[in-house]
Amino acid sequence: MITLEAVIFDMDGVLTETSRQHYLAWKQLARDLGFDISEAINEQVKGISRLESLEIVLSAGGMGERFSEAEKIELADKKNLIYQSLIKEFTKENLSVGALELLTSLKSNNIKIALASVSKNAQFLLEAMEISSYFDVIVDPREVKHGKPAPDIFLMAAKMLGIKPKSCIGIEDAFAGVESIKSAGMQPIGIGSKAHLYNCNHVYSSLTEINIDTIRKIIYETECCQ
Ligand code: BG6
Ligand code: MG
Repeated sequence: MITLEAVIFDMDGVLTETSRQHYLAWKQLARDLGFDISEAINEQVKGISRLESLEIVLSAGGMGERFSEAEKIELADKKNLIYQSLIKEFTKENLSVGALELLTSLKSNNIKIALASVSKNAQFLLEAMEISSYFDVIVDPREVKHGKPAPDIFLMAAKMLGIKPKSCIGIEDAFAGVESIKSAGMQPIGIGSKAHLYNCNHVYSSLTEINIDTIRKIIYETECCQ
């Protein structure tokens, strides 16, 4: 029988809501380059690394081919400085509703907890929101070869925990993140809307809708329906 041994969390859009700040930072960068982006870009950059997100933003402005690799790094750094100025005041008040309750319950039931975020600012947010101590493993995105939707980051989390992927649940808000969880051989839980996360069987609008029993049931159902 497969039992639940670990829950692997994404950060942005799951443990806290930062998509507005990412969007505003990209918008500012685009404006400085002379074009505007619409909020629709938000969904496209969710779960996607900074440099890959930059490519999406530049293409939206018809500037996909304009910059050298070195210039792109400068632009990404510039966006990051704007983003960091927007999240610098984050505190535990910015934790998603239900996050603390879920983390606490997992911990008291001896379920391992990991973070699999591609954001290089995730560590800062963990500390700012005072939840670092809940995590048994925090994957460093710099160590991950292929970003989401590749399975690498979730596989690395499971490996670092020493737990088989099929005993892990991944929680994600991004289409690419759900793909990453599935290709790692884990069951995904989506946070958001079924319209965006149509690749996920278990989608909830917020963390308040899930608890350890919901998560265990998903693992159990997987086994009995395979
Ligand atoms: C993801 C976000 O969690 O992190 C993406 O969903 C973002 O929008 C990516 O581009 C990288 O974040 P950062 O903080 O390293 O620029
Ligand atoms: Mg996310």
